[in-house]
Amino acid sequence: MCGIIGYIGKDKALPRILSGLKSLEYRGYDSAGIAYVKNKKIIVQKEVGRISNLEKKINLEEDTYMGIGHTRWATHGEANKINSHPHTLGKFTIVHNGIIENYQSLKDELIKKGVKFVSETDTEVIAALLNENYKNEKDILKTILKTTKELVGSYALGIICTDDLEHIYATRCGSPLIMAQDKNGSYIASDVPAILNYTNKYYLLEEKEIAKISSEEIQVFDDNLQQVQKEMHTFEGSVETILLNGYEHFMLKEIHEEDTAFKNTLDYYVQNNKFKETMPDFKKYQSIHIVACGSAYYAGLVSKYIFEEYVNIPVKVELASEYRYQKNFYDSNTLVIIISQSGETADSLASLKMAKNAGIDTLAIVNVTSSSIAREAKYTLYTKAGVEIAVATTKAFIAQVTLLSLVALKMAQREDLLQEFKGIENYIQDLVNRDYLPYAKFLYQNNNIFFIGRGVDYALCLEGSLKLKEAAYINSVALAAGELKHGTISLIEDNTPVISVCTDASIALKTISNIKEVKARKAKVLLITNEDINDNFYDYKIDLPKLHPVVMSIITVIPMQLIAYEVAKLRGCDIDKPRNLAKSVTVE
Ligand code: G6P
Repeated sequence: MCGIIGYIGKDKALPRILSGLKSLEYRGYDSAGIAYVKNKKIIVQKEVGRISNLEKKINLEEDTYMGIGHTRWATHGEANKINSHPHTLGKFTIVHNGIIENYQSLKDELIKKGVKFVSETDTEVIAALLNENYKNEKDILKTILKTTKELVGSYALGIICTDDLEHIYATRCGSPLIMAQDKNGSYIASDVPAILNYTNKYYLLEEKEIAKISSEEIQVFDDNLQQVQKEMHTFEGSVETILLNGYEHFMLKEIHEEDTAFKNTLDYYVQNNKFKETMPDFKKYQSIHIVACGSAYYAGLVSKYIFEEYVNIPVKVELASEYRYQKNFYDSNTLVIIISQSGETADSLASLKMAKNAGIDTLAIVNVTSSSIAREAKYTLYTKAGVEIAVATTKAFIAQVTLLSLVALKMAQREDLLQEFKGIENYIQDLVNRDYLPYAKFLYQNNNIFFIGRGVDYALCLEGSLKLKEAAYINSVALAAGELKHGTISLIEDNTPVISVCTDASIALKTISNIKEVKARKAKVLLITNEDINDNFYDYKIDLPKLHPVVMSIITVIPMQLIAYEVAKLRGCDIDKPRNLAKSVTVE
């Protein structure tokens, strides 16, 4: 969601800014823009749609050594050229990721002072406020400090000022920002992939810190404008990890990396069927709240069945966007688990802070190292899925389910079950390499698809259904199989596709009855099962291996992910960057 890149140095700036923007495409956006300095003037160019539209309009060889770039995911005002970033007001040109909640009252005040706005954005208000405050402060750092004190909401800002064309300034609150340097210059960026072509060393800008970067130097100031020393971080992966490496899409590449995501996660916490010291023991907790958004929420829902079965304690799973506004009942033995691939999801982060403020212990299950959620939680355990670029998460989901199962087994003191994880990567490989095109051909022309399952299979159906919505723009609905007859079955007619997941032997017969009910109403059924079913109540069947229940839910989702991928391809969708969606959802 909104990407920021800034470069100042000895090399021409536009190729670096463009390549940075392209590496941030995965975050989701609907317009892009740049501002650069040429002959002591700031030049702004913006285009709606893909970065390639912008690229066609600019001269990459332009004689410029400093600039900022932005991909915008529209929040305030539609995706048009005027609302796109950068925004200029007076001496200040800025790019922004986040949402300013009090922008309207600030805007009203500024209008009274005679400021004229051209866009509908909250960002232009920040530029105007900087410009106003600068008139009194006459110092850029002091101006940024004063301005950010007046802002309510979240922001990562890249700032240039006509009075100092030797520096790019940046600050943040709630939205991420990093800084980096190589022999050719300095960078600011929303995320590490934007700078990986040049360096894998970076610094994290902390909340409310202000960065001032020049070609040779990165200076960072705290909110008393005292300079602070920053710790250098090294990104562990390689540039290859963020390249397609011959795959047609990142979604496909990342599904093919699921065996490694599983194995790396397992090996980080387990060795020779024993837990390593990297896995803490949470057995003192008597109840668990799992809080997350999107697929991470479904991974939490899957794990609820595992925690309750093996640890025998109550687990409540909540959407972060609901949890943070509702009345939550904790006791001192409650553990709040926040699950997040990006570690930056605004609602998940807010829920974490809320639990923390209530004095409750928090555990973050996060993929991105040193992300806000990872740093904010009392305990942090990393999934080892590697960088995930496609908006629709796949390998990170598998790694989340794996890690949550391990946490549950550690709490349950069931080290004996770790042997069940051995060799699962081979089953993953087998499932990933099968041909799902025939099922996709059966599904892709439908605009309504139903998923049904019971228990953990229902949780997995929810994730399978989300994949179809995200990647293939198909309205699909996942239902607890037993609930179908309470309304939704009225939508089943001739040839309505129903995908049923049935891997839990204890309730398989009940699910089969529900499948027969839709079949009796002439639905077309695709059954995904590990049960030995030879009856002919389905139209298509995908056979899964019969594994121990504690690991079954790690692999069951794979056919649904690949079906969504194939369906999206047949429908000609923008698979890695679906419309309206963002990978890292830093707004509420
Ligand atoms: C976005 C992504 C989803 C993801 C959700 C939560 O909506 O498109 O794939 O599941 O955010 O993200 P998180 O980074 O917190 O797991």
